[in-house]
Amino acid sequence: MDENTVLRKPLISVRVFHPQKLAQHGNAHSSLHMRVLYIGDVAKLRWIVMNQAVNNASKESATTPKTDLVNRQYRLKTRPAERINADTFERVEERVPELKDGQALVRTIFLSLDPTNRIWVTDVEQYMPPVQIGEVMRGIGIGQVVASKNPKYTAGQLVSGAVGWQDYNVIDGTESWPFSPLPSNLPVPAEDLAGAAGFTGLTAYFGVFDIARASEGKTMVVSAAAGAVGSIAGQLGKIAGCRVVGIAGTDEKCAWLTNELGFDAAVNYKAADWKEQLTKATPDGIDINFENVGGEIMEFVFSRLNLRASVALCGLISSYNESSDERTKVSLSKVLMKRIRIEGFIITDFADKFPEASVKLITWLAQGKIKSRSTIVDGLENAPEAVNQLFDGSNVGKLLVRVGELSK
Ligand SMILES: NC(=O)c1ccc[n+]([C@@H]2O[C@H](COP(=O)([O-])OP(=O)(O)OC[C@H]3O[C@@H](n4cnc5c(N)ncnc54)[C@H](OP(=O)(O)O)[C@@H]3O)[C@@H](O)[C@H]2O)c1
Repeated sequence: MDENTVLRKPLISVRVFHPQKLAQHGNAHSSLHMRVLYIGDVAKLRWIVMNQAVNNASKESATTPKTDLVNRQYRLKTRPAERINADTFERVEERVPELKDGQALVRTIFLSLDPTNRIWVTDVEQYMPPVQIGEVMRGIGIGQVVASKNPKYTAGQLVSGAVGWQDYNVIDGTESWPFSPLPSNLPVPAEDLAGAAGFTGLTAYFGVFDIARASEGKTMVVSAAAGAVGSIAGQLGKIAGCRVVGIAGTDEKCAWLTNELGFDAAVNYKAADWKEQLTKATPDGIDINFENVGGEIMEFVFSRLNLRASVALCGLISSYNESSDERTKVSLSKVLMKRIRIEGFIITDFADKFPEASVKLITWLAQGKIKSRSTIVDGLENAPEAVNQLFDGSNVGKLLVRVGELSK
């Protein structure tokens, strides 16, 4: 699907009421007409789950003419037994090749750090192949086209895709994980495109509406609630009409959830009496568990689930640095007696519904109905250390690495 095709036949076209323009003109005619192609070609997205992305500028031969630009890459060297550490990756520097006809050069702007990075470097059965030793570390993010000899891409354009842990990608549009051009007039900042309006927000969206089936009057408990997915999931729960209670690891995070994001209550699971606090915050029991953590947190939430409760099993971060995923013990007898529905999901399951969900998320963000926050670490060289923020809880909201500056 090239850009011309998209322009003739957009996946979806909507009117988004831009808050600044509304403030200026004060009426609904001042909306921003936005063409959302967002993630782009759905058929290719399905392919993601079956193919490993190796967007690797080093595929070029030694004789290919090179530019003066240097591409730093972090390649998997050893599989960590516990946390990712200095030995996990080898840093390699290569000069970026001159573009051939049909190619475009993309500079990484924001690299998304995700708990699943830890899963990808582990050789276990998972939802896509693990990164192999010697390969550039897989990572999704936002890039900017630096130069293009391909009609699908225009210099200056933002693209979303599997940028990898590297500065540059030479692409030709046939990658197994395609780079999708993003519309230039989206009313959200680039960091949100890598977070609340990207895969993070989409994960929260489908978890809350399709898996948990959140609705008016239900009590929803979200774990890792001040993180990227959890903070959006809780706000979507409020939009659905739920009473939303968050669980997070500091008092500051809990205050952010209740004071700024509109959660009804938040509990710091590091407080000695957190179980009593959660009990008080959920006087009528729990109807929906949006679960990101597993372990003791999930077990206690589970003990308070009501008849016909649902569990949207999004993640189990408390076990990702461990060799066993047997950490969470829940009673199947309770599942039976209370007719509880537990459903695991992976965001790529919903690829064909990304465009409509992206429109909603971008609209809510632009209107201020949901708020986003990012923790931004500067410099690709800091990615191997920064990814551990996800496991020690030092990130608030979406954890990103700013690899390059956006050029105007
Ligand atoms: N199913 C999917 O398709 C999908 C997609 C994206 C993400 N996910 C999952 O969603 C979850 C959240 O991901 P995210 O990207 O939004 O990360 P995140 O929540 O921004 O960061 C992880 C947070 O988890 C908390 N945490 C880490 N270790 C913990 C532990 N042992 N016990 C309790 N809390 C712990 C920390 O916050 P505290 O300060 O509160 O401890 C940390 O800030 C993860 O499980 C991830 O795998 C799933």
